[in-house]
Amino acid sequence: MAINKIKGTYDVLPNESYLWQALEQKIRDILGLYNMKEMRTPIMEYSDVFHRHTELSDMVTKETYNFDDRGNRKLTLRPEGTAGIIRSYVENKLYTSQELEKVYYIGPNFRYERPQKGRYRQFYQFGVEAIGTIDPALDAELIILAYDFIKRLGLKGVRVRINSLGNEKSRDTYQEALKNYFIPHKDELCEDCKVRLEKNPLRILDCKVDHNHKAVKNAPTPQDYLDTESRAYFKKVLDHLNITKISYEIAPKLVRGLDYYSHTVFEIEADIEGFGAQNVLGGGGRYQNLVSELGGPNLGGIGFAFGMERLLLALEAENVDFAKEKELDAYVIVFDENLKTIATNILYELRLANLICDTNFTQKAFKGQLKQALKMKAKYLIILGDEEYQKGVVGIKDTKTELQEEVLIPKIKKYLLEKLEK
Ligand code: HAM
Repeated sequence: MAINKIKGTYDVLPNESYLWQALEQKIRDILGLYNMKEMRTPIMEYSDVFHRHTELSDMVTKETYNFDDRGNRKLTLRPEGTAGIIRSYVENKLYTSQELEKVYYIGPNFRYERPQKGRYRQFYQFGVEAIGTIDPALDAELIILAYDFIKRLGLKGVRVRINSLGNEKSRDTYQEALKNYFIPHKDELCEDCKVRLEKNPLRILDCKVDHNHKAVKNAPTPQDYLDTESRAYFKKVLDHLNITKISYEIAPKLVRGLDYYSHTVFEIEADIEGFGAQNVLGGGGRYQNLVSELGGPNLGGIGFAFGMERLLLALEAENVDFAKEKELDAYVIVFDENLKTIATNILYELRLANLICDTNFTQKAFKGQLKQALKMKAKYLIILGDEEYQKGVVGIKDTKTELQEEVLIPKIKKYLLEKLEK
């Protein structure tokens, strides 16, 4: 019996992988401009990396894949990148060599969510983290980077939404106010939100069940509770953004779904029809306690992550021509089975010259081989027949102009390199 893929996962097939490769290349190129270095951390971590006592988000309490390994260790498949990066930052004492570590990462994450378009149980993120300092210029740099990235990808209908949760003190005052505000509405809230009300009322604001409730819609916002220091910090972030003239909007209700944020939070949203709740392409914010909670010094950081499936869906929805599959430079068609060794050598020589080429391995008749070559969009056909071989030549046909020329076998490489202007 054939076995199917797990619900919420997908395969990247050979004719789609170039899109992923192009996206990854873009990420590497652009992040390089911002002097960010790649970091690769394991997909599985000890559960404690994510299941910290302070972390109460749905993502961690309800959506993680947890298991015991054969040595009875409690492990979790990472639901996001940040916690693992910070675990590694602390474990490798990266703070001793750099005051500010700017890194990026690309890789799969796992969340037990209800699968739908743009929401999977295994999904790819690329993210960045700048760890070690607190500076409004850095918050702005990351928002500018996120904006720059989507612009360079060619996405147009995209909005950058920003908010501030304020420093710890402002955030706590706000939490308290929010709790008092929601208490009279407790009975109207969903069961989860009743628990959230006690433990972390901020989470009520992004509840997937209650988000349309009047009380949720009219709730006070973090902006109402920012103290002078937090207000000044946020203003400086905006000053940095304003000078670059990137477009953004302040979203007073934005609190984000994870618990580790304070000060600046932001999301990148696509205005794309049919995207529904999956229109958030990426998001992030500042975290001041994560490093110390994971056993490191008292240092803050800021980061964001984009969902790569959602980026590809957005590129498709906007019809952005952002990647091309590599086409074959040449395809060798062999008329006679005995000439296959000659073809092998021609291919080897051409590949040494970095030409992309192929031939037929299924012994099809000429017509079949030609069809295959055209399907692969080969620019040139190298036609090797008995008669030609006796003369030491091949026919080379330009598939666009349909012009065919005879070329001496030792000159094939030079001929094609000139024609292809390589
Ligand atoms: P997040 O908002 O949970 O943040 O995820 C970031 C992005 O990952 C989302 O905006 C979305 O595009 C994508 N994503 C999340 N869940 C799924 C899913 N089930 N299927 C497809 N795409 C998904 C974080 O993960 C934080 N670690 C971001 C961050 C970095 N904050 C600070 N540093």
